[in-house]
Amino acid sequence: MQKERAKERAAHYAASLVEDGMVVGLGSGSTAELAVRALGERVRTGLRIVGVPTSRRTAALARRMGLKLCDPESVDRVDLAIDGADEVEERSLALLKGRGGALVREKLVARAAQRLVIVVDETKLVPCLGARSPVPVEVVPFGWFWCAQWLKELGGQPTLRRRPNGRPYRSDNGNLILDVQFGQIEEPERLDALVKRLPGVVDHGLFLHLADTVVVGSVNDVRVLRRSAN
Ligand code: A5P
Repeated sequence: MQKERAKERAAHYAASLVEDGMVVGLGSGSTAELAVRALGERVRTGLRIVGVPTSRRTAALARRMGLKLCDPESVDRVDLAIDGADEVEERSLALLKGRGGALVREKLVARAAQRLVIVVDETKLVPCLGARSPVPVEVVPFGWFWCAQWLKELGGQPTLRRRPNGRPYRSDNGNLILDVQFGQIEEPERLDALVKRLPGVVDHGLFLHLADTVVVGSVNDVRVLRRSAN
């Protein structure tokens, strides 16, 4: 309950940053969905925006909320994107994302956005990425087992993500996800490059140098963290 309230505070704060006429990246996951609902409220009272959703689920919610949506190729810019995260390294605002399986589209929208605003509750702040959560790695189905072997050679422990019925999870892009435990990630840039270089890997959940602002909600207020220029 308290966590829900904290997430709502962060989501409402982020939604208040959206201005009339903006193209807005709509993230995935429970906190980003709260932001989509908050934007729906603002649209009902006159805000005009166009959304670029990062998952089918978010697209369906946004439509229900009355938001206008568009494909990435029909807009030349994304003014601001709002998304959640599984872990946020407080010092650098590096992120770990993808528990919801939308990491490929999320990273595309994050990169295209002039400003990426991340919404989390306090439990997502960590001193070092990776200690709690695995790094999701989206791979094409062909040869996925080789990808898993190569990820092991990089020091990871991969597990093929499955649906509750035991069948392999498929992303919106039709791909598989390997959840890879690396433990504390001391050199995220190095791991980013090594994983991205593997054949068959589409992308992974390390989001480095992308978040401009992290809105951390708590029961009574929000704290806004900004990335210093680097
Ligand atoms: C979706 O793929 C993820 O990147 C989510 O943004 C992330 O898992 C955060 O989700 P919650 O807001 O539900 O914790």
